[in-house]
Amino acid sequence: MEVKVEKFDYEGRGLTHVDKEVFFLPRALPGERVEISVLKSKRNFKVGKVLKILDKSDARVLSFCPYANSCGGCTFDIVSYENSLKFKKEILKDLFLKNKILLPSFSIEPSRPVLEYRNKVSLHVCDGKFGYYEEKSHSFVPILKCALLSQFISRLLDDFSLFFFSNGSLIIRVNDKGECILGIDTKDEVKIHKTLLEKHLIKGIFLNGKLVYGNSYFIENRNNIFYKVPFDAFFQVNPYISQKILMDVKSFFQKEDTVFDLYCGVGFFSIPLALSVKSVIGIELNQKAVLGAIENARLNNLSNVSFHVGKVEEVLKKIPLSSKKVLVDPPRSGLHQSVVSFFLEHSIEQIVYISCNPITLVRDLKLLLSNYCITFFKVYDMFSFTKHVECVCVLNRC
Ligand SMILES: C[S@@+](CC[C@H](N)C(=O)[O-])C[C@H]1O[C@@H](n2cnc3c(N)ncnc32)[C@H](O)[C@@H]1O
Repeated sequence: MEVKVEKFDYEGRGLTHVDKEVFFLPRALPGERVEISVLKSKRNFKVGKVLKILDKSDARVLSFCPYANSCGGCTFDIVSYENSLKFKKEILKDLFLKNKILLPSFSIEPSRPVLEYRNKVSLHVCDGKFGYYEEKSHSFVPILKCALLSQFISRLLDDFSLFFFSNGSLIIRVNDKGECILGIDTKDEVKIHKTLLEKHLIKGIFLNGKLVYGNSYFIENRNNIFYKVPFDAFFQVNPYISQKILMDVKSFFQKEDTVFDLYCGVGFFSIPLALSVKSVIGIELNQKAVLGAIENARLNNLSNVSFHVGKVEEVLKKIPLSSKKVLVDPPRSGLHQSVVSFFLEHSIEQIVYISCNPITLVRDLKLLLSNYCITFFKVYDMFSFTKHVECVCVLNRC
């Protein structure tokens, strides 16, 4: 079947209609005429596979990645970096417009570097090879290298043969100095060659969830703020972009403010904010992250920051509301409905919402906009060449 791609959907797939039926076409660009076969047929839509590009978009370039057509991790590797930013912006504009949310004009902050930015990777290991699962499947794609990963991680993967395990999974996290912590899950008997420990700055190794070598954390230095990062705790994956977000976030709070940092992790925002505001109160579910955050206050000589362990939706109801200014950085699922209700009922004055999922951001904004106005909106290319973005949206009560 021959079709012409109308535009992108919210996941960066080509979208078109055939006899009023919606077709999603991964790796097809708007304006392209393509020959397709139907891969999946659902009640409301079909997913097509591009067999041949009949009319190519001027925006199309050759991907930098040899696994481009099987891995599926990158969506915008088939356009230039500049065009990827333009497309991401268009997709967001479209999403907000469709949901009748009026946005102020906004910019998108480019990543630097655009490749080799990720400080964490989760890999599958099959028959002695490492790789990713194809998107939305368990089909294994062996790789030798991933262009998005930090050079420290790539160098370690070059020595994968020194790991001696054949099946399972491998997580690698690395800090600014190149110190790594590895998490191996496998039923195999693992032998790690001592050359691996000599050649690389391996700080710690977890085997099936148990620390078997070194430390369970490393220290990350971001602009002379020191963070203890336990292996199991979240930490921002793109150092350059997360620093840009931090700078912008800091500008929304004044020195007399007490700030609630909800979903605070190890205090990536709480700690530097505490240097410039009156006090910070963090809430976080992961106990190890909170222990890290408490240690981070100490490491940075701060006494005006405190942390609570628990779900934001539960802790908020139990502690005194000593501030009307909040920062929220929830996981992809967005805010719990009761957190949104809490903000509305307690007349929170200002919400700085950091979101890694525009879909749940839009869902939450639709409720919040009954009492709030968007006073700032910006997009950050935290995950270059993938379909993902990070947004910061500031809401003031109106
Ligand atoms: C996107 S991360 C942000 C962490 C932190 N703001 C940072 O920049 O490093 C989201 C955090 O929310 C935590 N989390 C998830 N659900 C939660 C909940 N219901 N209540 C509190 N924290 C939660 C996760 O453990 C994770 O640390």
